[in-house]
Amino acid sequence: MPSLLEELSRLSGDAFAACGLDRALGEVRRSDRPDLCEYQINGALAAAKAEKKNPHDVAARVAEALKAAPVFDKIEIAGPGFINLTLKAEPLEVRLDALRGDARLGVDPARPPLSVMVDFGGPNVAKTMHVGHLRSSILGDALQKLFRFLGHRVVSDIHMGVWGPQMGHLIAVVNRVYPDLPYFDPAFKGPYPDTSPVTMDDLEVLYPRASAACKADPARMEEARQATAELQDGRPGYVALWKHFIKVTEVGLKREFGALGVAFDEWKGESDAHPFIASMVANLKKAGLAVESEGALVVPVAEETDKKEIPPLILIKSDGAVLYGTTDLATIVGRVKTHDPDLVLYVVDQRQNGHFEQVFRAARKSGIAGKAALEHVGFGTINGPDGKPFKTREGGVMKLHELIAMAESEAAARLDEHEIGKDYPPEERREIARKVGLAALKYADLSNFRLTNYVLDLARFTRFEGKTGPYLQYAAVRVKSLLRRAEGEGAALGPVQVTAPAERALALENLSLPEVLATAAEKRAPNVICDHVFALAQAFSRFYTEHHILSEADAALRGSRLSLAALTLKAIECELGLLGIEIPDRM
Ligand code: ARG
Repeated sequence: MPSLLEELSRLSGDAFAACGLDRALGEVRRSDRPDLCEYQINGALAAAKAEKKNPHDVAARVAEALKAAPVFDKIEIAGPGFINLTLKAEPLEVRLDALRGDARLGVDPARPPLSVMVDFGGPNVAKTMHVGHLRSSILGDALQKLFRFLGHRVVSDIHMGVWGPQMGHLIAVVNRVYPDLPYFDPAFKGPYPDTSPVTMDDLEVLYPRASAACKADPARMEEARQATAELQDGRPGYVALWKHFIKVTEVGLKREFGALGVAFDEWKGESDAHPFIASMVANLKKAGLAVESEGALVVPVAEETDKKEIPPLILIKSDGAVLYGTTDLATIVGRVKTHDPDLVLYVVDQRQNGHFEQVFRAARKSGIAGKAALEHVGFGTINGPDGKPFKTREGGVMKLHELIAMAESEAAARLDEHEIGKDYPPEERREIARKVGLAALKYADLSNFRLTNYVLDLARFTRFEGKTGPYLQYAAVRVKSLLRRAEGEGAALGPVQVTAPAERALALENLSLPEVLATAAEKRAPNVICDHVFALAQAFSRFYTEHHILSEADAALRGSRLSLAALTLKAIECELGLLGIEIPDRM
């Protein structure tokens, strides 16, 4: 079924066409002045301009033609030629009743569905995840859920960082610390040990040490560089050791992503692109797109219209090693082979925009992306109170699991303050605190437009008042408990009647879900969902304050209000679900 807004746009388009005007100008939108009207049409102004006529007269002609449609209660012309619309109750009621039995909440599945890949998370070997990975994970997860809900075929990939020069740093440093391990003996014929010679904790200490040493000492840099090249060349001992690095890192990562409630369809890494690199490079050379430059092989991607310099993408360094751009390009080859996507979203820090510009241009020039549109979905930083990217008090990076634990204990403190769940079993209280802490983090992140930087402030994020995750969870729980009570009292749900203003406002919020989700997907912007679920919760709160529900004596009215409540709960659950936020059964 077309959404309410689509239906209104169709009616308005008919009216424009009947007046001999462009039907597309009839687009209807939600009013930005809900005190004046519910919907508006702005296209009469453009139509008048095109026809060199008085906009007010054009609007009046359209308004006259619109009267034929039976759904409008009021059609008014405002300002120079805006058309303001207020609906009759009946079309709202019909739609709301249809929604009651609709598991998709009035959102038609995309036709045709697209094959969409979401590349997000992107943690690196030997490093535990820090707050910088939080945004990619939360945002990428919301986007994969959204596109999936809209009916697209979605494949998400964690795209682990496992193949860059850092790997050589690690191998070289382990070689220095444990020179006698078989991984370093070229004569060793295997098999190599099953257990890793280093733990994740070791790696975390060794890695920064190795990087610093390489920076300070050219000889050590050379060792590391050599190790990278040999690893990428397939030296068996190095490959075996590197596999241990990946394994021990993954154990930690699985715990972190598990705690965050984020899952991937594919758990691949940069090195999975390796098999495609040689033939890709040969093809790029053959096509004349890859050229020698100072001993390296590069793909020039600068374009005449560039305002700033876009350097060439380096495919192969003079020592034979491949870089981040090479693996990203070859990963596209692999993805086209297995999934032939229509769209690939890279949910990565905006500071990597230059990198993606290079990769996308090289992909476009060479045609390796097939039919896929490649898109960098960038995001800003999470800052500390000083406005700079967040650091711990000691100046280090805060790890994700530490942050999650902090959010949870902050949430627990808030629950205590509000005496929420005072008499619940301790286990349930802990589970509520966990859900509330995560909701606080996720909603705070997602409610900012992704390119906006924001300040990490757990005390604010965990508040039960204002635009926060916990407020929305609480709102949902309140509706749940109302409906549970109704069920307990045998109060039945019934057909919806839209009469009072608070009912209308709630009805309109419920009916706008299809547009909200479409806009969020189009802009790759879950903050649009955050705004709407908040508006919905507020509309419910007003409705709940202004009207009796369970205590309403008129059974039909009570049934209608319970239906509105049930619809609202479904919509909040759907939207919070898309944001990756769980709702406790009670609070
Ligand atoms: N591992 C990278 C980092 O930590 C992010 C990977 C993003 N995805 C990609 N296809 N480049 O910066």
